[in-house]
Amino acid sequence: MLNVAVAGLGWWGKTVVNLLGRSDKLRPVLLIEPNPAARAFGAGSGVPVVDSLEAALADPKVAAVILCTPHSMHCDQIVAAAKAGKHVFCEKPFCMSTAEVTRALAAVSAAGVTVGVGHERRFETPMNEVMRLADSGALGTLLQVEGNFSQDKFIGLAADNWRMSAKEAPAGPLTATGVHMVDLAIRFLGPGQDLLARVRQLGSPLVNGDTLGLLMTHKSGANSLISAILATPFMGRFAVYGSHGWAEIWDRNHPESPQGWLVRTRLRGGEVETREYPPMPAVLANLEAFAQAALGGEPYPVPPAQIRATVCALEAVVRSAASGTLEKISD
Ligand SMILES: NC(=O)c1ccc[n+]([C@@H]2O[C@H](COP(=O)([O-])OP(=O)(O)OC[C@H]3O[C@@H](n4cnc5c(N)ncnc54)[C@H](O)[C@@H]3O)[C@@H](O)[C@H]2O)c1
Repeated sequence: MLNVAVAGLGWWGKTVVNLLGRSDKLRPVLLIEPNPAARAFGAGSGVPVVDSLEAALADPKVAAVILCTPHSMHCDQIVAAAKAGKHVFCEKPFCMSTAEVTRALAAVSAAGVTVGVGHERRFETPMNEVMRLADSGALGTLLQVEGNFSQDKFIGLAADNWRMSAKEAPAGPLTATGVHMVDLAIRFLGPGQDLLARVRQLGSPLVNGDTLGLLMTHKSGANSLISAILATPFMGRFAVYGSHGWAEIWDRNHPESPQGWLVRTRLRGGEVETREYPPMPAVLANLEAFAQAALGGEPYPVPPAQIRATVCALEAVVRSAASGTLEKISD
């Protein structure tokens, strides 16, 4: 059992703490929340709450921290946790720039702690099936990926919410949902080479933009076409095309409360095959894979090189959205 402290008791921190109640691999021993109003949830959970990460890092009971905090805090908090010898799981986006991810992963590596990232889409059963199919060569040479992760959960946010800040959430939907698709694209097609992004505010009060369109070319030469919209009801779709066949996953609901998936595949010469997958808690599966690795078991399945590649692509999306031109992705 891994004793963890959960930092940030907002929307996602509460989701995580509730999920941990069902786990036999992670036990929340401390919660961290500076905002007195948000601390009420901690009191109700029966787990002690402190008001600073530093207090949790000084506590020998805490073996790992799970960061569910605003984006600009992630890098410094990862570094602080690693320096304190704690394993660290950070919600997406892991960091906001190449410089930050370099610093954060160097601290993790120097401390020899396990690192995890909140890209739970990789842990969904149908996604694992499609990964296996692609890795087996059954789809042939991978040619192109299409990913869409859209939702309208933020339309009613107050104007002073951190998600409205260009520092915390540059390129509109990118840090909310688009980054999950960038991560999956990198999982299938490898690191990116360059990209062109367009972000516009078209249908909501979200001043950072509500509509992201992205074309990323990977070093392999393959493309990813990514769509992320924050002004339309939930939509989740991921498709991978290869020279021998394709596979497509439709999400029935947001990962917060999964309702299962519909998968369609077609191999050359065959018919379209359709399969339903029942809901499963991918967010918890991700956290448990992290715990298993931290406790000395199977390595965590998202390698640091891929965590880094996703952040480097994210930085390039922000640059491209501002410049309006094709931007190179740093290594
Ligand atoms: N994996 C996913 O699918 C998913 C879904 C939603 C959110 N997230 C991520 O979770 C993180 C939090 O998002 P959210 O929607 O819960 O935001 P939120 O604003 O609802 O909650 C953030 C909380 O962090 C607290 N906080 C601020 N500074 C802190 C500090 N120094 N130490 C500890 N807590 C601090 C705030 O008071 C707030 O309660 C973000 O990185 C977000 O992108 C991931």
